Amino acid sequence: MLKGLSSLKKKNVLITGGMGFIGSNIAHKCLELGADVTIYDCLDPKSGGNMQNVEGIKDSVKITINDIRNFEPICESILKQDILFHCAAYTSHPNSMKDPLVDIDVNCKGTVNVLEAARRFNPDIKIVHIGTSTQIGKMYSQIIDELHPEFPVDIYSANKSVSEKYVLVYGNAYKMRTTVVRLANTYGPRSNLKSPDFGFMNYFIGLALQKKQLTVFGDGAQLRNVTFVEDAVYALLLASISEKSNGEVYFAVSDEHLNVAQIAEAITKNIGGEVQYVEWPSDREIIEIGDSVISDVKIKSDLSWVPRHDINSGLKKTKEYFDDCLKKYLG
Ligand SMILES: NC(=O)c1ccc[n+]([C@@H]2O[C@H](COP(=O)([O-])OP(=O)(O)OC[C@H]3O[C@@H](n4cnc5c(N)ncnc54)[C@H](O)[C@@H]3O)[C@@H](O)[C@H]2O)c1
Repeated sequence: MLKGLSSLKKKNVLITGGMGFIGSNIAHKCLELGADVTIYDCLDPKSGGNMQNVEGIKDSVKITINDIRNFEPICESILKQDILFHCAAYTSHPNSMKDPLVDIDVNCKGTVNVLEAARRFNPDIKIVHIGTSTQIGKMYSQIIDELHPEFPVDIYSANKSVSEKYVLVYGNAYKMRTTVVRLANTYGPRSNLKSPDFGFMNYFIGLALQKKQLTVFGDGAQLRNVTFVEDAVYALLLASISEKSNGEVYFAVSDEHLNVAQIAEAITKNIGGEVQYVEWPSDREIIEIGDSVISDVKIKSDLSWVPRHDINSGLKKTKEYFDDCLKKYLG
């Protein structure tokens, strides 16, 4: 059992977006720890929501298929819950540029709906919201921490930045117990492999599992933090049971700082496929943010979080998972 998480036993846990990548991994772990789990998800076809993600647990969790933009059902679902992991989001950077109003609707209005439901009907609930490192945009220093300013370069990241602030406003104004955990390039079992729109690493893993070529732009020298999903979930669970985390923002990113080329080579070594280097397409080069190196000092100090996987062990577990069910993620 992961250290320090025994207090989750018998807790009522609600996970919005629980059919998606991160949310479903939280659901599996919470069940393992003895929590009662409810998933609230609309199975948005443009997201990583997938019935396969609850394979093996669907009879042990309550699943409500509905939208966070619908106020009444989210109010009903929030009653009697102890902890809420807010994972539902419109999660694609390119789709947010194509459909900015949908992104605002889900990521901003949807988040306020969830917060209002909590404020009115269950103000004592602990809320853990997931933010993203892409809220930062171009980084003005290396290594950056939670105090770095945010200048997002796409609508999704801008709306994630705003929705994080709503969560903190509710915490501050209404004395609610809210925490933000920002993730970056999270990979692993149950991820959305189908399209590069949801982050390059899981897409590369999908190509490698199909023994295809992984295309790296330029020399792939830009640094990134990558985090195995089990480690990210561990951080989220620690935040959910901590009182010290109330009102705080944390980056939960692994210690490993690798460049894109090293990440691609590790994927082909552990999974398959081969790496191909090509010239930068001009439309991609202008939105490239350069190196991204993030500190995990705050979360380690406050919550005693320690990531347990390096890239090789994370990729091995990822391959083992998808070897049995890859087709369910490519269809
Ligand atoms: N995957 C990463 O690397 C990463 C990095 C940083 C932040 N995040 C954040 O983590 C959270 C989860 O992301 P993910 O990677 O699991 O994405 P995902 O696309 O796999 O899951 C999102 C889930 O939310 C559901 N959803 C979308 N709109 C909804 C709505 N209106 N009502 C109800 N459910 C809705 C989808 O059906 C899906 O199951 C998001 O907030 C995302 O911004 C993820």
